[in-house]
Amino acid sequence: MPGRISDTVIQQILERVNLAELIGQQVKLKRSGKNFVGLCPFHSDGKPSFTVSSDRGFYHCYGCHEGGNAISYLMKSRGFGFREAASHLADIAGIELEFEEGDASAWKETREKKRVLFNLNRDANAWYRVNLRSAGGNEALRYLKGREISDDMISRFQIGFAPHGSGLHDSLVRSGAPMNFALELGLLSKRRDGSIGDRFRNRITFPIMTVSDDIAGFSARTLEADGIPKYLNSPDSDLFRKGELLFGMVQAREMMKKDDFTLLVEGQIDALALHQAGFTNAVAPLGTALTEHQCAVIRRFTSNVIIMFDGDGAGIKATWRSLGLLMSQGLYGKIVTLPEGADPDSLLREHGIEAVHKAVETARPFMEYALAHLVSESDGSLHGRTDAGRLGVELASQFKSSLDRDVFLEQLASELRLPLDQLKSRSRGANGRDSGDDALRLIASIPPREKRLLELVLRKPDLARHFSDESVFAFLTSDAGKELVLALLDAYEEEGRVDVQALLERLDLPELLDIYAGLVLGDYDPPPEELDAEMLQKLHSLRREGLKRDLEEVARRIRRAEADGDMDRCFDLLLEQQKIWKAIARVENARDLEF
Ligand code: UTP
Ligand code: MN
Repeated sequence: MPGRISDTVIQQILERVNLAELIGQQVKLKRSGKNFVGLCPFHSDGKPSFTVSSDRGFYHCYGCHEGGNAISYLMKSRGFGFREAASHLADIAGIELEFEEGDASAWKETREKKRVLFNLNRDANAWYRVNLRSAGGNEALRYLKGREISDDMISRFQIGFAPHGSGLHDSLVRSGAPMNFALELGLLSKRRDGSIGDRFRNRITFPIMTVSDDIAGFSARTLEADGIPKYLNSPDSDLFRKGELLFGMVQAREMMKKDDFTLLVEGQIDALALHQAGFTNAVAPLGTALTEHQCAVIRRFTSNVIIMFDGDGAGIKATWRSLGLLMSQGLYGKIVTLPEGADPDSLLREHGIEAVHKAVETARPFMEYALAHLVSESDGSLHGRTDAGRLGVELASQFKSSLDRDVFLEQLASELRLPLDQLKSRSRGANGRDSGDDALRLIASIPPREKRLLELVLRKPDLARHFSDESVFAFLTSDAGKELVLALLDAYEEEGRVDVQALLERLDLPELLDIYAGLVLGDYDPPPEELDAEMLQKLHSLRREGLKRDLEEVARRIRRAEADGDMDRCFDLLLEQQKIWKAIARVENARDLEF
């Protein structure tokens, strides 16, 4: 695997490529003086706000403020990685690519291993796709037709078929693929008798893509009427972290940005059906509750989410949970309530595209939905109203904006006829912290401990790798911190090295630029080992504290369940408590181990 592409070569490529010609392949451009103008490909543009300067190798949109050079254009418009964009352009410009040796060697190693793993997934995917179109795939194809999934969708989502038997295994053996990696990825599995065979058998395969267009893993649906599990997913690995991926993200991101909202659904078939009907901004988490990390991924494309979960008890519960999380992450949006028993897929099939349009148009804003939900939950009795009040306070405490929180609590108090000051005082208590971040304040202040963590990352950007673990990522509370870390993770994925100053400027994170300048200008320059050690030690104590908090929370919930006499819940919680204890023991023992 070659190292980094040298800066001089990048410069040459950028100088040589005719930007107007490149962009002109996708966007109709008209000459205007020295520049070219056209309708912006990055947002729904009414008048030509998109300007391209071939002389300066630069484009900019005055409507949506998207801008950059030929490389960033390919990255944004076609989802290319940096390296991929650069080599594409080098081809066009007739330049031989030269590579420098990368510097962060540990990074390089993990990156190279990841590359091998991604390639394996890509090969497996190709094999599944061929199988769907071969004689053995007839039944699978019939099944897809039965669910009204079109050929176009099959190819757009790269759907395939894993047959009975161990054909993938045999094909990987023939091509000399590393079997231990195929096992690690869960493409193969070890049987009880010790032999190795295909893990996905008689299943339709859906590749799950990362935002950089690689295949992180698969979710494979059984063809058997009562096959268990219905969807078998890749096991969690270096590549496949369920909590960070969204089905349909790659296919949806362009529209998400253009329409400035996303449709969040529960099932991948729902997402597929919506795409097929023209709602190409639909995404689905992979069968688990929405995570902070997924919210951060969404926020790179839009801040508005329309939740359209199944019309059943589980869907309503999941909606409620997601609502709090989305609001805590500074995302806004609306909720569609589907009829009892319906999901987006069935709504489309039974009532057509119009029904979905109508559902989207009549979706209720988060807060309005939450209020209505709480009012309908309370039966009007004093007991019911205080219970609903408690739930509402719990929700409001998660709101990022204190303005939203105040408005919501006022409405809640009046609708439930409860004293506002009581709700307000509880809200602060439940939150544990003061209503610090104000919607009106533009630059959020970063908590001191987090600031120290970020200082480490700014000094030694490869430390960002620790944050690819969802539970570590969750320690970040500031937007700026989250954005920085995600961008660093991306940058390493693509380039193996980053220019922190340029990155911060590009991300427009003034508060971090200030911190960074302070570090660069200061005279203390600790050696890298010291930074590594400090990072590990910080994460260690954060993790321990987090677990202790979880433990307290569980203890509280156990007491509540006991008081309610709900033994089932109590039992579940006790199991959870045991898990946390185990995790604490692990952390205590792992003084020197990374996690
Ligand atoms: P559903 O059971 O609602 O799936 O689970 P669905 O999309 O309606 O499936 P069809 O229509 O019967 O094919 C919602 C999501 O939960 C995950 C999948 O991502 C699924 O899309 N899931 C479900 C699993 O990961 N494993 C399972 O066994 C079931
Ligand atoms: Mn469903």
